[in-house]
Amino acid sequence: MEAHIPTQTARAVKQVSYDFTGMSVLITGAGRGVGRSHVQAFAAAGADVVAADLRIEGGLEETAAGADGNVAALACDVSDATAVEQLVSATVDAYGKIDVLINNAGIIELYPVADMDEAVWDRVIDVNLKGTFLCCKAAARRMIEAGNGGRIINTGSGASFRGVPLLAHYVAAKHGVAGLSKTLAVELARTGSRSTTSARRR
Ligand SMILES: NC(=O)c1ccc[n+]([C@@H]2O[C@H](COP(=O)([O-])OP(=O)(O)OC[C@H]3O[C@@H](n4cnc5c(N)ncnc54)[C@H](O)[C@@H]3O)[C@@H](O)[C@H]2O)c1
Repeated sequence: MEAHIPTQTARAVKQVSYDFTGMSVLITGAGRGVGRSHVQAFAAAGADVVAADLRIEGGLEETAAGADGNVAALACDVSDATAVEQLVSATVDAYGKIDVLINNAGIIELYPVADMDEAVWDRVIDVNLKGTFLCCKAAARRMIEAGNGGRIINTGSGASFRGVPLLAHYVAAKHGVAGLSKTLAVELARTGSRSTTSARRR
């Protein structure tokens, strides 16, 4: 199948085309930005996509409507273990399996460590690191049970490799995401599934 890749992604991947026909892909933080681009690129390449974000209105609807392919939009707060379990179950119910998980949901708030409230630290860690863990856990279970070799892609950042002023919580979370991905990759190796972090060292 010759996939149509949306403009933003097309610029990045140039002339490469992909075929994900028959694959079930779950993408978090899909209401805008990078997550929306992932959804539209996978859908255009033939995947059955679940696009998740905090709420359906105000972004996710537009993500699904703008996709040239099969996209189900579901609300989920990735920092809520029950909601994540329901999201992954809904993905398997809809498409029979989960082949690819992209942990993209992320938040950022700017504070120097000396002025950072504990609540701000907790919020950023909860979404960027704990949310990634919860989604990995729920999806990895399904992938291991299915035995077909799934793929988990955790969104990192330049902040996965170095310190960034005003972003200690985000940097800690993204370093943690890199460590989580590496460990999960080792744990999943014998099952045929894989885990990796997507990030650019800049
Ligand atoms: N944009 C960049 O330059 C850049 C660079 C490096 C890494 N990243 C990473 O890429 C990912 C996406 O970045 P972006 O710029 O598109 O962000 P964005 O802020 O545009 O979009 C993030 C999405 O995540 C959603 N979200 C926030 N909290 C959530 C939660 N608890 N549960 C579910 N969804 C939630 C938001 O509603 C939003 O739709 C993030 O993980 C970010 O850290 C982005």
